[in-house]
Amino acid sequence: MKTNIFLITSCIAIAFFATAFTFSNPPKPWIVPDKYLKMSNPVKSDAKSIASAKLLWVKNCQDCHGKKGIGDGSKAPDLKAQPADLSSSAIQSQSDGALFFKISEGRDEMPKFKKEITDPDEIWSIVNYVRTLKK
Ligand code: HEC
Repeated sequence: MKTNIFLITSCIAIAFFATAFTFSNPPKPWIVPDKYLKMSNPVKSDAKSIASAKLLWVKNCQDCHGKKGIGDGSKAPDLKAQPADLSSSAIQSQSDGALFFKISEGRDEMPKFKKEITDPDEIWSIVNYVRTLKK
């Protein structure tokens, strides 16, 4: 009888920890170097910047982040990580330099765009575009 109780308690404990482990996958902090945090956007957010960035957005970002940037792109269900909701305050509260860094360098499934979009001003324009996605 004692062994039974012991076994049952152990099973419950194992199930509990396994569940806790599965659901406690907190987002890893994405550290932005100081140099980037303080950078100001050299590209003015005017009609020209937004129009050119929109083309880049449709070509490079929409498949994962979705048309309005909320993370519902057609490729999103195939990813292990949820593409960030770029309209959210968690993203919109970040500095232009922080967004520039993340888009340029990527991490895991978020591609490193400085390889594909080699003109930094185009990435700055994309940052301007991301600002238009704010809810
Ligand atoms: C292949 C899918 C994919 C594509 C294409 C993609 N992203 Fe992402 N993006 C992700 C994923 C997944 C994350 C979350 C990564 C993480 O937190 O590790 C992310 C994160 C981000 C973040 C950081 C959000 C934060 O947590 O601070 C920004 C900004 C971003 N993406 C912008 C863009 C822009 C702009 C483009 C196009 C130039 C783009 N992404 C293209 C999948 C993608």
